[in-house]
Amino acid sequence: MCGIFGYLGYQEAQPLIIDGLTSLAYRGYDSAGIAVLSRGGALGVRKAAGKIDNLIEAATKSPLSGRLGIGHTRWATHGEPSEVNAHPHLDGTGSIVVVHNGILENYGELKARLIANGHVFSSVTDTEVIPHLIQEFVAEGLSFAEAVRIAAGQLRGAHAIACLHADHPEEMVTFRVGNAGGVAIGHGQGGMFIASDMPALTPHTTSVTPLEPGELAIITPERYDVMTLDGKSVDANRVTIAVNATSAAKGGYKHFMLKEVMEQPEVAMSVLRGRLSFEPGEVALDLPFTDQEIKDLNRVIFIGMGTSSHACQIGAQVIERLARIAASAENSAEFRYRDPVVDKHTLVVAVAQSGETADTLEAMDRAHRSGARTITITNTEGSQAYRRAEGAILIHAGQEVGVASSKTFVNSIIAMQLLAIRLARTRGTLSTAAATEYIEALSHLPALLGEALNINGNSFQRLAVKYARSRRFLFIGRGLLEPIAREGALKLKEISYIHAEGMSAAELKHGPIALVDRETPVIALAPLNDLYEKMLSNIAQVRARDGQVIGITSVGNHEFTGLVDDVLLIPEAPLLLEPMVATIPVQLLAYHLADLLGNDVDQPRNLAKSVVVE
Ligand code: M6R
Repeated sequence: MCGIFGYLGYQEAQPLIIDGLTSLAYRGYDSAGIAVLSRGGALGVRKAAGKIDNLIEAATKSPLSGRLGIGHTRWATHGEPSEVNAHPHLDGTGSIVVVHNGILENYGELKARLIANGHVFSSVTDTEVIPHLIQEFVAEGLSFAEAVRIAAGQLRGAHAIACLHADHPEEMVTFRVGNAGGVAIGHGQGGMFIASDMPALTPHTTSVTPLEPGELAIITPERYDVMTLDGKSVDANRVTIAVNATSAAKGGYKHFMLKEVMEQPEVAMSVLRGRLSFEPGEVALDLPFTDQEIKDLNRVIFIGMGTSSHACQIGAQVIERLARIAASAENSAEFRYRDPVVDKHTLVVAVAQSGETADTLEAMDRAHRSGARTITITNTEGSQAYRRAEGAILIHAGQEVGVASSKTFVNSIIAMQLLAIRLARTRGTLSTAAATEYIEALSHLPALLGEALNINGNSFQRLAVKYARSRRFLFIGRGLLEPIAREGALKLKEISYIHAEGMSAAELKHGPIALVDRETPVIALAPLNDLYEKMLSNIAQVRARDGQVIGITSVGNHEFTGLVDDVLLIPEAPLLLEPMVATIPVQLLAYHLADLLGNDVDQPRNLAKSVVVE
């Protein structure tokens, strides 16, 4: 959840680190800090609670000069987000400094041991234990890098860590234990970089060496040596990463999230580009399986968290409909800890826009251990999910800066539909004619998304004003739109801080309808499809209890106006494309409510873009 950036070379480190942290701020933004080693051998530290701008102000007022430094942007786990708890953390001698991403599970035990040995701590973080622990091994006579390696072996939990020593001006040590987000070495022209994520490295280099769990790197301005935490040398290769073409600028929009919602037609084209084959009824999607292996699959399990898990729920329905394989969607965090029955005939599809979500990575490992086949649907080439899976379907959504996922959700669903067609065609469950029709419909999806963005004029702003004082919303849908109801509720919760629940409309009468009153607007997803009549009954049940209904239906459904309090329209779309089209109004409603309430839409409180802790 935190971002780490480091530099060692021939340029001033502070500006490079600040820029790196700024591009990693989506990973955590409750406090930040940097440490730079001066030419005279003194470690200077600047920290600030709150957003990265506060650190920039502190570091501008009192700049640090030197060519070696590390920085951190934090999402608090242990200890409130304050200046004293912000990273970097120093040992008691002030010569070892550490930035850390992860949770040190045995910090209580280690801290008690260190206190007994005379160490004094200034923060309440788990991280501060680490430089003190390293210092104990240095004091025993180990080299700095060796002390770090031995200390690493004593840390329980999952971690990505970088450290410096004031007596080693030409050395930075970084390592990974388990899955707490990655750390990659960037091979620049004027020095070496490290960062938690690729977008922070691409302004400097596209040549990178990502560390695997259990690896440690000793980095100097000219070279790097990678070894396992057991001390065995590793031949770690450089890989070339793509520079993301999508600009991370707001492009005239007030927030990144609004820009990212509005660009969905364009990014939908990107995920389809090159994959809609000219062969009738075929999609061009490389999978790491033979046709026979695809025919032998008897189960598909989609795993993901948050918004990605809502996409998974749609993926499972689409696979069952088209490829006629039993399919389900599971929360990765639960999948990893139960004892799932999976084998080589099970395909596990890990969905993660970041490709770094700790629970999803662990669930992938769990699937591997059981012999399942794995692919990932991700937006991040080179991410851990990308590297771990047997194959990947990249969703090509461009960088998503807003913490609330929007365009990556829609593109993940599109990727799942391509996967469903590909499996269905190989298994012979979808005729050439039906597949051709479906592919043709997919090619029109970008245009439908464009219509969905424009069709309601300024209704969202009007509805935001009307409902801004509501403290609770319910979202209901059926079939492929039930996950959209859940996603709508999640979007609203995370950016407006208004409580919301999303569910099957059929579930409402089994309990949640007790919440319905004049103050609880119900958003009903009711396009003209085979479940429309059912939705009308549910809407009537809400209105009979004095509930207010904002109904989302297909353009041309003239009867709807009299049946609900407010109408939002979506263009008519084939059933399988309705989830993508119906996502747009729930995203925009959440956005305009949050904006009206004056919230920080792009960096909502308490959240982070990549959740790399359990
Ligand atoms: O990177 P991932 O897709 O694995 O992220 C999963 C969730 O953390 C993420 O979707 C989260 O729920 C977003 N804040 C939703 O907007």
